[in-house]
Amino acid sequence: MISKEMLIHALSTVKDPDFQKNIIALDMINTIQMNETTVSLNIKLAMPNDLSKDKIEKEIKRVLSSIGVPHVSVTFTAMSSEERQSLTQQLKASMTTPSGLPKLLRPESGVTFLAITSGKGGVGKSTVTINLATAMARMGLKVGILDADLYGYSIPNMMGIQQKPIQIDHMTLPVYSHGIKVMSIGLFATENQSITWRGPMLNKWIKNFIVNTFWGELDYLLIDLPPGTGDIAIDIATLIPQAKELIVTTPHSVASHVATRAGAMARHTKHDILGVIENMAYYREKDGSKNFLFGKGGAEKLAFKLQTEVIARIPFGKPEESLTASVYDEDTYIGEVFQSLAQDVIYRTKMRTQDDKEQNTNK
Ligand SMILES: Nc1ncnc2c1ncn2[C@@H]1O[C@H](COP(=O)(O)OP(=O)(O)OP(=O)(O)O)[C@@H](O)[C@H]1O
Ligand SMILES: [Mg+2]
Repeated sequence: MISKEMLIHALSTVKDPDFQKNIIALDMINTIQMNETTVSLNIKLAMPNDLSKDKIEKEIKRVLSSIGVPHVSVTFTAMSSEERQSLTQQLKASMTTPSGLPKLLRPESGVTFLAITSGKGGVGKSTVTINLATAMARMGLKVGILDADLYGYSIPNMMGIQQKPIQIDHMTLPVYSHGIKVMSIGLFATENQSITWRGPMLNKWIKNFIVNTFWGELDYLLIDLPPGTGDIAIDIATLIPQAKELIVTTPHSVASHVATRAGAMARHTKHDILGVIENMAYYREKDGSKNFLFGKGGAEKLAFKLQTEVIARIPFGKPEESLTASVYDEDTYIGEVFQSLAQDVIYRTKMRTQDDKEQNTNK
């Protein structure tokens, strides 16, 4: 006979897919009944949706059958507003320090922040952000994208995201796409409408995005910055001084000249520059040869000025039809270029984090 303790123990391994915490800790079990052959459960959901229901039901059935329960029946109900509030309070408390600072930003969170910048618009920041994040997620890492291009947001469209984020009280769950947690102001807009931001809101935007988004566990948070060196970059630098920067440029010398400003900005904000990414670097002909349409050398010049290196050269290419507009398939040439960029970035961030730690202990 299976005891109630065994049931609870097994159920405590089932995680809510939205909150990434176990359903016992989140107090999600409404009722549990057991007879000779069947265990019947009623689960309370903060925001009932078919995807979560399906995942939770499958997982419950899997863990209970592994301890020998022959039949399992799972039903769902919606949490009451008081229950929802207490859940969000519990989650908020787990996300912030007693003084109200986001835990995500503390060094022990283990999250690496990567800011993707450029001096000039349209060079491929968002494309790089999305594909680097996808490559990292394909490697099994927990990755998030924060679209910091508040006025010119493009991540949701470029990733083909149709879903709206789930909001509970004042907390928002990021949308999952291609294995990545995505947060963008564009997720709240309808029909590509423009969003008017007023001063005070803009001042707090980054804190809002960090504090009021339930990011859960993350290894990397990629921040897609708007072009240039404006207030948003300064906000990021102030709140996330530990962010590492990747500077995107095209080979064209004008683009790389302007990108120098973004680099100078990174130095000013004391952000560590991981390297320069040259996008649209060449066109790969059918025979595999490289056609350097925009010339050569711009990225090297920029890297030299910033005392860093060119860490990737991404060719021209259209993503596969089968996938979303701007995500390159894993098996394509460009997909592989991003995969090796991801490995390189992971290696570099690990080395830098090690250096940062040593510097701190020597202080
Ligand atoms: N390597 C590439 N090959 C072909 N098209 C590309 C490549 N990189 C980017 N593009 C295309 O170029 C356009 C601009 O790219 P993207 O939106 O990534 O640039 P951005 O720097 O983020 O622009 P913005 O400054 O407007 O935010 C997009 O239409 C994108 O699909
Ligand atoms: Mg962009």
